[in-house]
Amino acid sequence: MSLERLHFLRSEIRRHDRLYYVEARPEIGDADYDALYRELEALEREHPEWLSPDSPTQRVGGAPLSAFAQVRHNPPMMSLDKTHSRSDLIDFDTFLRRQLPGEVWDYVVEPKVDGVAFSLLYEKGLLVRAATRGNGEVGDDITANVRTIRSIPLSLAGAPALLEARGEVYMTRAGFAELNRREEEAGREPFMNPRNAAAGSLKQLDPREVARRPLDAVIYAAGAVKGADFPSHGGLLKQFADWGFKTPPWQRLCVDIQAVLAAIDELETLRHSFPFEIDGAVVKVNRRDLYDRLGSTAKSPRWARAFKYEPERAETRIWKITVQVGRTGVLTPVAELEPVLLAGSEIARATLHNADEIARKDIRIGDRVWVVKAGDVIPAIESVLTGKRDGTETVFAMPAACPECGGAVARIGDEVAQRCTNPACPAQRVGRLEHFASRDALDIRAIGGKVAEALVAQEWVTDPLDLFSLTLAQLESFRIGDEATGTRKFGKNAQTALEALEAAKSLTLDRWLYATGIPNVGVTVAEQIAAAHSRLSELPGSPVLAAVLRLSDLYDQAAAVNPRSTLNRPKDEAEREERQTRFNRICGEIGVLGDTLIAAGVAAKTPGTALPPQVMCVIKTEAAKAVLAFFASDYGKAYLERLLALGIDPQAKPKATLAADAPLAGATFVLTGTLSQPRNDFAARIKAAGGLVQETVSKNTRYLVAGADAGAAKLTKARNLGTAVLDEAGLLALLSGTSAPVAVPEKPAPAKPKPAAAPYRQQELF
Ligand code: IVH
Repeated sequence: MSLERLHFLRSEIRRHDRLYYVEARPEIGDADYDALYRELEALEREHPEWLSPDSPTQRVGGAPLSAFAQVRHNPPMMSLDKTHSRSDLIDFDTFLRRQLPGEVWDYVVEPKVDGVAFSLLYEKGLLVRAATRGNGEVGDDITANVRTIRSIPLSLAGAPALLEARGEVYMTRAGFAELNRREEEAGREPFMNPRNAAAGSLKQLDPREVARRPLDAVIYAAGAVKGADFPSHGGLLKQFADWGFKTPPWQRLCVDIQAVLAAIDELETLRHSFPFEIDGAVVKVNRRDLYDRLGSTAKSPRWARAFKYEPERAETRIWKITVQVGRTGVLTPVAELEPVLLAGSEIARATLHNADEIARKDIRIGDRVWVVKAGDVIPAIESVLTGKRDGTETVFAMPAACPECGGAVARIGDEVAQRCTNPACPAQRVGRLEHFASRDALDIRAIGGKVAEALVAQEWVTDPLDLFSLTLAQLESFRIGDEATGTRKFGKNAQTALEALEAAKSLTLDRWLYATGIPNVGVTVAEQIAAAHSRLSELPGSPVLAAVLRLSDLYDQAAAVNPRSTLNRPKDEAEREERQTRFNRICGEIGVLGDTLIAAGVAAKTPGTALPPQVMCVIKTEAAKAVLAFFASDYGKAYLERLLALGIDPQAKPKATLAADAPLAGATFVLTGTLSQPRNDFAARIKAAGGLVQETVSKNTRYLVAGADAGAAKLTKARNLGTAVLDEAGLLALLSGTSAPVAVPEKPAPAKPKPAAAPYRQQELF
């Protein structure tokens, strides 16, 4: 009986691993998964004779290695001939035609994943060895490390006697950013890019460390195979996907080289929407029976080509470093660059973040540097080409005084940022004013840019609330510009500005909270906090915000006393008991606070009996802390007092002000994964249709819109809460009103989250 259970548990866990790690459409939540896993562990502990190397419990194991064994590749792992030019691809096709007269074939185009090539060897379906490509002939045995990658099956059902899967280990951009954050926190050097991070992680000698690295893998070729035959490359990819491997998330079958060129162009437009870096496209002849006839050169097969896209990094020179002062006084050093073309646009400036970053990367004025587009928007300096220094470079020092007002500069608390501490700093005043008047804040269009600068420079406005004291006569006579460039009257805009200011008085709490410009309070956070309150004057003493802070504190306490903690085990029975009592009390309090937050509509509890209870709150601790700190500050107190004196106490959005016929009136959405357009664009369209966009899935979420590579955690949560999951097409249908919201049941039965309708979703081509 229990052997049956053991097999059931293993196959269930494997199935859920595949759903979660490979297909990104989990069916169960963490708690249920953990329960299965723990039950399996217990059974295996009871029956060590049943342990098997492909059990899901056997991913992370073994002592750290002292060195990697060497592995000889047979056949060798070749590389690909690379080109940047389209005409080379046409030549490639012409060459093949000459080699294969009378034959007809298709091509497959797939992304060239920027990671580390590797090989997996399965004997009778069991993973027996994993190796790096090394020099192509000999690589490192990294079996223990690769076993920790959860999207790689430890065994295959229905596999041939011998199967070598070849592919790429990579790290997603998000995983890389998170890993670097942890590395920096631990005081270690961050990795240069996701590929280096993946390579460095695979070289770790301790598999337990590797297990903590966000590695993933995709399979795109076969090496040695006995007992199976793959007539086409497309069929091979399909078969590997059926075995449970991740295969390239985007593939195109092309009838001729013109179609290949079109596919390469299409992939290039999607390039930045992949969750991982791709540095090109790979073109492969689909018919594998032609491979032997074509043969290979010393290094690469003749049946494939790599087409490399223009690099996402470009080399240029820093000719100057300037310092910008933001609305919160933060001093941001900015590299002024010799203009260079990067990912389609000309880059002349890149943020240097802060002084630590400059020191860490040893960036000097005059340096030649690599610029990259971080997160595809803000250019950043990746590294310095130190070899190209000629001694004329100079070290940059952050100014001791604010470059805008000469005020004192300080680091506050343990922040890395340096701030101008002068609240009267004109740069901060302008920044605050611009923010206050911006579209998502109070939308006072007449007061942006030059006008804001002039209002501050002429001391008409020192604090945004001063705007409300301006009269029409004053504003009409107000002059913008300076002596040098000529001035002009504000004139007719005065009326527009006053009308916008009047309208602003009745804008809702979320808008005002955002306009207030509290650090950590962006549009979404402001909406979330506003949703749990009825008016601004409630915020300073808000029980909801206090509960959010207390909750975070209690989770810390629970972690510290948890008697089942594996990191900090009780040393004896007495301590265990004492900790259990404290733990129970803390869990009880978490439960009560959770209920308060749930009642306020800002939290949800994950079902299950896990302790401490899992309360998911949409308001983040940092945000709650920032809002409370603001209203407790002298400035915050004066700000609120002044608002109330002006007769302004912004109210929360009435829940039903939206026209009932707005297609999405009152519906709440969470967007995740990659959609065909920036998520913000979709968010704006949802809001315009009367919907609300949240950052985290809670019981208030009506729809989770899942794009490509949607966050598994969000999908699980949606699943647990019974939230409807839509793909992009589903969202578009809702937006256009072609499918009334009834088309998607409000609380679907155990609705299987649909896999993403991705711009690069695997096509059923073969
Ligand atoms: S096929 C014999 N397909 O590019 C050809 N390679 O220089 C086997 N790569 O070493 C490689 N994505 O690390 C192939 N979809 C893909 C790939 C890919 C990335 C890497 C691989 C290889 C290098 C070619």
